[in-house]
Amino acid sequence: MAEATSRSGPAGGSGPVDITPRPTALVQEYLRKHLRVFCELQELQRLVCPKSCPPFRPLSGQLTILHPQGWENEQGDAYFQQQRQRADHADDMAKLAFFDHMRHIGAEMDQATSALTIAPSATTRPAILDLCMAPGGFSYAALLHNPTAELCGVTLPPSQGGHDLLIPDWASSPDISVSFRDITMLASELGVDAIPPTHPDAAAFSRDRPFAGRQFDLVFCDGQVLRTHDRGAHAAYRASPAREAARLLTAQLVLALQRIRPGGTLVALLHRAGTWHALAVVHAVAGFADVALFKPARAHRTRSSFYLVARNVRPESAAAREAVAAWKARWRAATFGGEDDGDLAEVFGHVEDDGVEAVLKAFGPRYAELAEPVFAVQAEALRRAPFVRGRNQRGRWSAGAGAGAGPGGPAGRPSWR
Ligand SMILES: C[S@@+](CC[C@H](N)C(=O)[O-])C[C@H]1O[C@@H](n2cnc3c(N)ncnc32)[C@H](O)[C@@H]1O
Repeated sequence: MAEATSRSGPAGGSGPVDITPRPTALVQEYLRKHLRVFCELQELQRLVCPKSCPPFRPLSGQLTILHPQGWENEQGDAYFQQQRQRADHADDMAKLAFFDHMRHIGAEMDQATSALTIAPSATTRPAILDLCMAPGGFSYAALLHNPTAELCGVTLPPSQGGHDLLIPDWASSPDISVSFRDITMLASELGVDAIPPTHPDAAAFSRDRPFAGRQFDLVFCDGQVLRTHDRGAHAAYRASPAREAARLLTAQLVLALQRIRPGGTLVALLHRAGTWHALAVVHAVAGFADVALFKPARAHRTRSSFYLVARNVRPESAAAREAVAAWKARWRAATFGGEDDGDLAEVFGHVEDDGVEAVLKAFGPRYAELAEPVFAVQAEALRRAPFVRGRNQRGRWSAGAGAGAGPGGPAGRPSWR
């Protein structure tokens, strides 16, 4: 199936350009100090894409900036190129295979976290909201676990490049309602009622608020910016994958928090656990929910993608309201700010070193604990990947060379796990 631009980078650094390099450098320094597996992962990423993960430098020196362009491992390049080709030109069999694949990831997620199983209630019928739903594998898996549930979904229309919905008989089922729309254009839902008439997409924004007034026990946010999504040649503000990924994630999180039932479960796709951006989202959600991270063991293993599973969500808490306000502000900045990537730092929010350090002090140990298995799955997969196996740490080919232990080796890092 059409793969996402935000998932299309090289194995190590999949996702758009990291536009908060300084905070990310601080996060990575922290993770290198505390997680041996993170050092291993960075070494492997450097084999795959030397320019995306330059050798480590002390933070007092030049910044470590992640740029996915700079891909220098031709084998890896060909591998991901082939994956993208296949995804963009999927036939019916491939579409069904993708649906099945997502269903299996959903089942595996439930096995690991029980996220898909809704606790029975004496007063309410179980309700599921799937944002960016198609082809519907997660929803289908969730319905198997909760057969009496009602299912609502929002997903990009196929006419705009979205995936087809493949849940059997969904259109005739009284228990399934789907709103086909571009979730990033729900202006009123995202707190903007007056669209500047000069905006290039002024007519495309919507005041609709799908499923307003409803509450859901389980909400999925699995949106991926698709290469097949026709965002319009005039919409220069949507051209940058980083900006579009920010618009999509913030739109989903806001809608999710404005519909979830207190005590409900939120599942959100994130990328690159080693970046400030990912840590900041997990930290914000941990302020109003019990969080876990999940990376499937059977799919997308070489990618940096993973899922945030937030249980017992408290959407009415001050922390949740604050997070929603911040995500709305980011969506506004990404949608109505300038068109340059230079403006992106503003979209993601400026943060000073002491702000990052305060978060690392308060939440770093917990985050390292949560993220360690995510890094471990990706490192293990990269170690076995055909385009990495046999490369030594200088990027040359040698029989049976594996991943390095990280800078300085374990002896130099007393706090490594
Ligand atoms: C990885 S697929 C989701 C798979 C789904 N969770 C499943 O289990 O089958 C990503 C989805 O995001 C949707 N999407 C991407 N951009 C969107 C947008 N702007 N508005 C609504 N949906 C969008 C795509 O159409 C696609 O259905």
